[in-house]
Amino acid sequence: MNTNLSSSAPSQLETECLVVVVLDHNEKDRKEKDKPAPSVESTDSLVGDAIKDVMASGEVTAKTFETTLLHHPSGLKAKRLLLVGGGKAKTFSAAELRQLAGTAVRTLKGKNIRSFAFALPDTGIAAPEGVRAIVEGAFVGNFEPGYYKSDHMESDRKIDAVTIVVQGDTKPLESSMQAARIVAESQNFIRDLVNEPSNRMTPTILAERAKKMAAEVGLKCEAYGADKIKELKMGAFWGVAQGSDEPPALIVLRYDPQGAAKDVHLGLVGKGVTFDTGGISIKPADGMEKMKYDMAGAATMIGVMRAIALLKPKVKVTAIVCATENMPSGKAQKPGDVQIAMSGKSIEIINTDAEGRLILADGLCYARQLGCTHLVDAATLTGAVVVALGYVNAGIFSSDDQLYERFAKANQQAGEKMWRLPLDDEYKEIIKSNIADMVNSGGRWGGAISAAMFLKEFAEDTPWIHLDIAGTAWMEENKSWIAKGPSGIALRSLVEFVKSYAA
Ligand code: BES
Ligand code: MN
Ligand code: ZN
Repeated sequence: MNTNLSSSAPSQLETECLVVVVLDHNEKDRKEKDKPAPSVESTDSLVGDAIKDVMASGEVTAKTFETTLLHHPSGLKAKRLLLVGGGKAKTFSAAELRQLAGTAVRTLKGKNIRSFAFALPDTGIAAPEGVRAIVEGAFVGNFEPGYYKSDHMESDRKIDAVTIVVQGDTKPLESSMQAARIVAESQNFIRDLVNEPSNRMTPTILAERAKKMAAEVGLKCEAYGADKIKELKMGAFWGVAQGSDEPPALIVLRYDPQGAAKDVHLGLVGKGVTFDTGGISIKPADGMEKMKYDMAGAATMIGVMRAIALLKPKVKVTAIVCATENMPSGKAQKPGDVQIAMSGKSIEIINTDAEGRLILADGLCYARQLGCTHLVDAATLTGAVVVALGYVNAGIFSSDDQLYERFAKANQQAGEKMWRLPLDDEYKEIIKSNIADMVNSGGRWGGAISAAMFLKEFAEDTPWIHLDIAGTAWMEENKSWIAKGPSGIALRSLVEFVKSYAA
């Protein structure tokens, strides 16, 4: 998709469709039974004139994601005018704007429209931030998961070009637009990886895709197999991988720019279970097909490295991806088995379906060995995080309040929904074992927390953040702004977080 900036007056722009935002300026709440007070966010009075009738009709309420399409809007050069509702003006932010851009894309591409112009709304949002939100939202909305439908080229025709209409000089906004493109394309890159079924996204294929991307953007990428995993004594990772005929992959991506901030080396660790059957503690058949997305954490970290390589912040970053299937077989690990992790700690396997924390344990340990000073992992780790936070917020865990604050700020800027969950020492009780240093499954209660407590044992004293994206890496339904399927969650927050360390 092409993106352009224009400083033309919205009314004077020749386009297939001009998109403008409508907000509700009634600040009283519902109790007062006041009608909405919708008004269009444009200083171009010709736009206001063009919509006079439809506004008077009461059809437009400015409700979030409400769309109203007008043909031949009078006095405008655009062929069509799309009004997109954005809810209350008082609470309208870049996060909403991003979703409105996605909504515009998804509304218009279904109407056989290939290009449009989005007028940056005249609200309190700073222009660079607004441009960024529109570009990111448009790319996210343009993604469709129906790649394997024979007719997808015809049925899922995409938007080819978006023009963002701004006031004044476009020059200073050029770099915001380019950066937003990089971020958005990296998010869709992740979604492509996650969307692939497990027969087309084995650990080996994931490693190949990482290498191909690395070659394109100028990153170093190494991919190792079973021999290296055993040589490094990654007994927890191998415990999972040993049950599969498909070889595992340990993928390392390195970004080490000149003039990088001293004393900072970020380590990004991703869970890359390309299919999670549960192993011998096998999962029920119902819904098991979704376990192809159990490599979303890995895809996220690979996508972050892509964005970083192109944005070029001056900070050293290494990504470590542990990729394997989790299969039942004659070679598979069994409940009761004891594995010795790379760090030397022993783990009693209670449930072979708690495999993510095993591979991450060795991934985190390896990151420390490579000299990482701060660690972040992303993983579709537990069903329990979905019980706790539903499909709305990803879970954040951190061993270090300062690091958490920095991440929370990045997360806020990125406009992604995440919520911190606790890691009190008391929870450590849950992962005690009779015969080893710990068990790999603490059972049902506080399941997202006990999984994080397990990981903490391997992050040790290195400041660390864990993102449990089990409930948020996959959209359960189509939304007006994003398709059902992989979401690409966490990339934007992680990119902001990495940038915050740049020299
Ligand atoms: N990959 C799953 C977690 C998951 C659940 C991801 C739902 C996406 C959606 C993970 O490996 C797993 O199976 N976790 C178990 C842990 C339990 C056995 C302690 C779970 O959450 O049930
Ligand atoms: Mn599992
Ligand atoms: Zn899993």
